[in-house]
Amino acid sequence: MRHLIDIQQLSREDISRLIETALDIIENPGRYSEVCRHKKLATLFFEPSTRTRLSFEAAMYELGGDVLGFSESNSSSAAKGESVSDTARTVGCYADIIAMRHPKEGAPLVASRTAGVPVINAGDGGHNHPTQTLADLLTIYREKGSFNNLTIGCCGDLKFGRTVHSLISAMSRYENVKFVLISPEELKVPKYIKTDVLEANNIPYIESTSLEDNIGKLDILYMTRVQRERFFNEADYLRLKDSYVLTPEKLKAAKADLSVMHPLPRVNEISVAVDDDPRACYFKQVLNGKYMRMALILKLLEVAV
Ligand code: CP
Repeated sequence: MRHLIDIQQLSREDISRLIETALDIIENPGRYSEVCRHKKLATLFFEPSTRTRLSFEAAMYELGGDVLGFSESNSSSAAKGESVSDTARTVGCYADIIAMRHPKEGAPLVASRTAGVPVINAGDGGHNHPTQTLADLLTIYREKGSFNNLTIGCCGDLKFGRTVHSLISAMSRYENVKFVLISPEELKVPKYIKTDVLEANNIPYIESTSLEDNIGKLDILYMTRVQRERFFNEADYLRLKDSYVLTPEKLKAAKADLSVMHPLPRVNEISVAVDDDPRACYFKQVLNGKYMRMALILKLLEVAV
């Protein structure tokens, strides 16, 4: 595998090996601190980001490498009309690996065809976000010890929430996994995720509009933000944005070992009063993301440690 565009490109064995590497990095950071010396990561972010871009950059620095790139399309020649394909071909002359975020679905795939170096999808429109899923998988593994026998509730904007699409794809390959898909009618998970992923893998799922009716049966609650930037109509966003707000009161009905996850950024969908609950895992996801991105960079650059 030369690029990571979709989480489905990684087998269960690939994911196990990435997790093993990430856990070894956590235990033995010194062993990895020079392994990417003289290697360069380019972060090409055509959309805003805090966690993904900075964790990729921190990951490369902690591997001893260097970083170049841009954090908004207006500061690149995309503003003059340059294509994704030409941008990728150009940056491939300067960098050894590229992480790209773009508002258009499929842009990182297009980039991968001309870059000449590995390209990582750091989020493409409302489509996929495979490295967030790697962060989520390490978090689930560290919290639950396994990916099997889990009931996972995904709550919020399941239509545009690309992290949910990638998470469902990844988790649908494990045993006895069930999904509870909680969203307003207008923000239900896309049909292709239901037919091509859930039903194709015989994964049981239900759809519901109620968090309260379902919270008690969940092992993982994956909250998501309503994705304002993907709405065509501000009035619809304002009507839907506060559909679900997780509070300590609602958590009283949840299992004692529930894991509350969120890819962040959060707006209103998890009350800050939940942050001190031992079940809150969303800031653990942030840190786990850096370790999994370190492991992924090593894999794609074929660096032996
Ligand atoms: N989870 C995530 O993608 O966060 P950023 O948008 O801050 O990168």
